Amino acid sequence: MAAQLKKAPSLPRRLLYTMFFLSTSALLLVLFYNDGLTGEWQSSLHQAFLLSRQVKTYPLLHGPRICPSRRPITLLLAVKSHISNFEQRQAIRNTWGKDRLQSEQVVRRVFLLSIPDKGVGPYATALNSMVMEENNLYRDILQWDFQESFYNVTLKELLFWHWFQDHCMGSIRYVLKGDDDVFVDVERVLDFLRGPPTHVEPLYMGRLFVNTFPVRLWGNKYYVPWSLYSGAYPPYMGGGGYLISNKTIRLLLQASSEVLLFPIDDVYVGMCAEVANISARHHQGFMPIEFNPSQHPCIYWGVLVLHRLESNQQYLLWNFYKSQGHKCDNFTSQLGL
Ligand SMILES: *[C@@H]1O[C@H](CO)[C@@H](O)[C@H](O)[C@H]1NC(C)=O
Ligand SMILES: *[C@@H]1O[C@H](CO)[C@@H](O)[C@H](O)[C@H]1NC(C)=O
Ligand SMILES: *[C@@H]1O[C@H](CO)[C@@H](O)[C@H](O)[C@H]1NC(C)=O
Ligand SMILES: *[C@@H]1O[C@H](CO)[C@@H](O)[C@H](O)[C@H]1NC(C)=O
Repeated sequence: MAAQLKKAPSLPRRLLYTMFFLSTSALLLVLFYNDGLTGEWQSSLHQAFLLSRQVKTYPLLHGPRICPSRRPITLLLAVKSHISNFEQRQAIRNTWGKDRLQSEQVVRRVFLLSIPDKGVGPYATALNSMVMEENNLYRDILQWDFQESFYNVTLKELLFWHWFQDHCMGSIRYVLKGDDDVFVDVERVLDFLRGPPTHVEPLYMGRLFVNTFPVRLWGNKYYVPWSLYSGAYPPYMGGGGYLISNKTIRLLLQASSEVLLFPIDDVYVGMCAEVANISARHHQGFMPIEFNPSQHPCIYWGVLVLHRLESNQQYLLWNFYKSQGHKCDNFTSQLGL
């Protein structure tokens, strides 16, 4: 009894503590998600997006002349890259993105770029001249005259389709669209494309997302206001790396005239695919897990597209596969590939 009496007064105090803790956390959360910087950054980004949403064409600044090609190109690696990611592009050129001709299969690459977000000033000028130099050396830059910005990435998708339609439709059979932080096992992708036609045309294959909804958390990178989109997203492929064919690009481009620009590029492709009646097909070899440098590299053996590698890790994985990949055959079962 005495113990109970002694204990009783501590209950309201605990309640008080709990309430204090909860309200402080709530306040911190509100402050965090509405923090002046994030909020302002996000609304100005939305504003910029809405202001230029109707504009779907921008001039081409650099375009490689890979088409028409003497030999038909089996696979084009089309890699979205931020203008300042020189190292990532170089790593890809030196590893999985090398031009190659293997048993009659021609593989080429192109990087999709736009212009610096602060169009003028010494930094922008320096970037522009470095890209010009880079393009003189490698002739693999496709650059358009719009500002590099998270919400403008969809334009790279759309303008790439236009460029492809105008120059390469008859010369290139397949395209692997990817980001500059992925590792692609090009041999495996070619094997897959050569193999029995598990891939039905129009091909749109990768890591499938279905029944996903817009992120409504203010401050999140993928935040989408209700006014921009309501309901669930259509099925779409994770933008890190997915496969399409020349026929698919033709259909997507046709459909895009009916689809308003949307700030999240991979979802936009899904929207166009839905209008074009193209079914999105999942393949377990596309980004089944993220790259983690503390894991044994054999963990990823068998993966077609792997996500989140820094440029030095591209070299490490590439060299490991070249020299010791054959030793990995015992690991494949782990991911079920
Ligand atoms: C996209 O680029 C255009 C053209 O450079 C620019 O006017 C617009 O503000 C950019 N949009 C975003 C969201 O940054
Ligand atoms: C796609 O490319 C192949 C081979 O490069 C070509 O034969 C075919 O006609 C192209 N398809 C379209 C729709 O242009
Ligand atoms: C979409 O594709 C399905 C099956 O592939 C077909 O039955 C349907 O008629 C197509 N719809 C349109 C609008 O093309
Ligand atoms: C794979 O594992 C088996 C038994 O676990 C072993 O005998 C074989 O040598 C291994 N192969 C390689 C290439 O390491």
